[in-house]
Amino acid sequence: MSASVEVSRLVKSYGALRAVDGVDFDVRSGEVFSFLGPNGAGKTTTVEILEGLRRRTAGDVRVLGLDPWIDLARLRTRIGVTPQDFHFFPKLTPREGIRLYARLFERKVDEDELLALVQLSDKADDRYDTLSGGQHQKMGVALALVNDPELCFLDEPTTGLDPRARRAIWEVIRRLKGEGRTVFLTTHYLEEAQQLSDRISIINLGRIVATGSPDEIIRRFGRPERLRLVGESALADRLASLGLRVTRDDGAVEVELGSKADALQILETIRASGLKWESFSTRSDTLEDVFIRLVGRMENGSLPAEPEPEGGP
Ligand SMILES: Nc1ncnc2c1ncn2[C@@H]1O[C@H](COP(=O)(O)OP(=O)(O)OP(=O)(O)O)[C@@H](O)[C@H]1O
Ligand SMILES: [Mg+2]
Repeated sequence: MSASVEVSRLVKSYGALRAVDGVDFDVRSGEVFSFLGPNGAGKTTTVEILEGLRRRTAGDVRVLGLDPWIDLARLRTRIGVTPQDFHFFPKLTPREGIRLYARLFERKVDEDELLALVQLSDKADDRYDTLSGGQHQKMGVALALVNDPELCFLDEPTTGLDPRARRAIWEVIRRLKGEGRTVFLTTHYLEEAQQLSDRISIINLGRIVATGSPDEIIRRFGRPERLRLVGESALADRLASLGLRVTRDDGAVEVELGSKADALQILETIRASGLKWESFSTRSDTLEDVFIRLVGRMENGSLPAEPEPEGGP
């Protein structure tokens, strides 16, 4: 698969601050790629360099084969952009905004279809300054699609949206992918990234700390699946005496599992021992768990503290 975006050894300095500090990643054509990282990690800086809005300090960047700083005029017709801090003319309505963009891009656009796509039909003719924050975001996404772009950059398009509106934007993203477009997304909602993305890069303090599919990243950086038990405190000692790796977490006891079958054996042992338990469940790390571990590791300059094992050989 060819690459829509290629970033190599990218650096952006603001005075003494290296906000982007030697970043490498690719976005493949037709995929949903999510760029994740804590506040101030360097996401918007990177995205705006790719959009041709900021000049890089060093490194190489190709977007649809073009250098965005040099070829912005050619690139602009082929990419769609929703900036993180989207603002619009206060007196114009969403419908007028779409018409304006359509004229600028010399495109014919079905504005009702576009407004319906982002669930903004009921506000089509209301002035921008009377719309809510979430409605502003939806309008930003609609405007990014006016020029029928091959590649869309959506910088936190779902921040501040209610759960239903967020899902509407997810549907838009899935539809864009279904139409063969490439989507470059930044978001702080890890569950959203896990559900939507083919691939992800996590950036922290200007450096990439992980790249891969959500499953790959969870496998590589996550902890093994655990059995979680709530019950009397003696459970932990009993499990530890079996040589299991036991941790306590918020009133519960967790044991790492080699396989699902281990869970059955452990439960059988507990039943036979007569110890009291209230509930059990199994738990695997999510992308959010892994994100917190990776970002925590970088902030401390070392690995996150492992929970203290209470038993084991
Ligand atoms: N124009 C600028 N001048 C000086 N410093 C800047 C500028 N833009 C960004 N920075 C700094 O660069 C770093 C990265 O900022 P950036 O906006 O890229 O982060 P981000 O990952 O998008 O964060 P957020 O999740 O909060 O949107 C921050 O420390 C920020 O203060
Ligand atoms: Mg940002």
